[in-house]
Amino acid sequence: MKLEVDAGKTLLVDGPASLMVLSGKAEVLGAPLKNESRIVVREGKRLPIEVKSKALFELSLGENAKYEQVDGSTVPKTWQKVVDEILSEISSKRPYSVMVMGEVDSGKTTFCTFLANKALKEKLKVAVIDGDLGQSDVGPPSTIGYCILKKPIKDLFDVNAKNAYFIGLTSPGRVMNEVIQGLSKLKDEALRNGAEFLIINTDGWVEGEEAANYKLRLVNVLEPDVVVGIQQEYELLHILGGIGGTKVHIVESPSAIRKRDREKRKILRELSYKKYLKGGKVQSFLISWLKLEGTLLGKGIFPHKERMREIEQILGIHPWYCEETSNTLLLVLGRSQRVSEESLKRLEKSIGKRLKVIREGEENGLLVAIKDINGMFLGIGILEGIDYRRRAIKIYTPVVKGIHTISIGQVKLDREGKELGICAVFTE
Ligand SMILES: Nc1ncnc2c1ncn2[C@@H]1O[C@H](COP(=O)(O)OP(=O)(O)O)[C@@H](O)[C@H]1O
Ligand SMILES: [Mg+2]
Repeated sequence: MKLEVDAGKTLLVDGPASLMVLSGKAEVLGAPLKNESRIVVREGKRLPIEVKSKALFELSLGENAKYEQVDGSTVPKTWQKVVDEILSEISSKRPYSVMVMGEVDSGKTTFCTFLANKALKEKLKVAVIDGDLGQSDVGPPSTIGYCILKKPIKDLFDVNAKNAYFIGLTSPGRVMNEVIQGLSKLKDEALRNGAEFLIINTDGWVEGEEAANYKLRLVNVLEPDVVVGIQQEYELLHILGGIGGTKVHIVESPSAIRKRDREKRKILRELSYKKYLKGGKVQSFLISWLKLEGTLLGKGIFPHKERMREIEQILGIHPWYCEETSNTLLLVLGRSQRVSEESLKRLEKSIGKRLKVIREGEENGLLVAIKDINGMFLGIGILEGIDYRRRAIKIYTPVVKGIHTISIGQVKLDREGKELGICAVFTE
């Protein structure tokens, strides 16, 4: 359908929808929209389109999609003020970095996009480092990524990650150290690549003491020049109050925010996985030709004959596969092999090592990341089977060239990117 919108209004479009500006001038968070070029608004997302001069839109709405016109801008005045203040400081300090905090759906991504577009107008080399594992903008969910922007953007999702760091889970609680370490590496890399203005987004876990400590550690390690806290009421005070020497700006959460429930957030993650799995095919590799990360598999040796006899005697079966490191015995059992808890305990005691028991096929569906020889992130894939006897691994991925390292995560997916659950048996 066609829709005419007057200058000075904002058109809010809730996806799934697509639209095109046929005539007139419009922009999203400071990024001008090109006429005649199609824009997709994903399900669960709202796009605020500010009309600068009377514009005609072609709009197609998907199921449950909506649109609405409101007067003026939906970007809060405090955002503009804080952005101006930050940008006025950068002349005396380069590189400059800003860390953005806020709960889930507070407007973090939108603020980062707005700030990035304003900084680009100042001709700065802008990098966005995305520390939100679950609702990633740059790179697929379960990774933290960064990009260097060449031109204003309406949606960070449209930009390719320059590099990413695979975490393998979509919430930070159990992987705080990895996230902090990863972000720190990405920050160094962005700086080495000449970034002058760094925007670091964080995840929406802010409630409680543990979250606060984690956020404060992020500040201590990443040393931003300023922290921007987005809050509706006082959600961040217990965090922001603990920040010592770093300057803090508090801004409001926009009233035009569109909140998403768990299910919508899951859908958004799935759309993102899907984008990164597109064009995938199954490829097989010998484990000895690859570097495997995030798993014990491939780290040990086959138990010697005597040891094998001991294992088989205690368990009363021939395990499907065994591998032994200095302190762990990895035991893979066939689908129908039954072993009692008691004999496993006995085995553990007898060999004096920790036991890790995996069922054949249990690995199917695990999300993996693929890296090149220099550790650069190439993409994601799905583990579709390990042939323990041949020591071969099958992966569904669109990545074909330069595969050197496979890092095994804990999220399980199908080829459409649907989340099937979490599985930690492979985790080191
Ligand atoms: N100023 C705004 N005007 C219109 N929609 C907004 C605005 N700020 C955020 N939104 C919408 O609200 C939703 C949540 O905002 P987002 O920036 O993604 O939050 P967060 O990154 O904190 O989870 C998104 O769909 C976003 O497009
Ligand atoms: Mg976000």
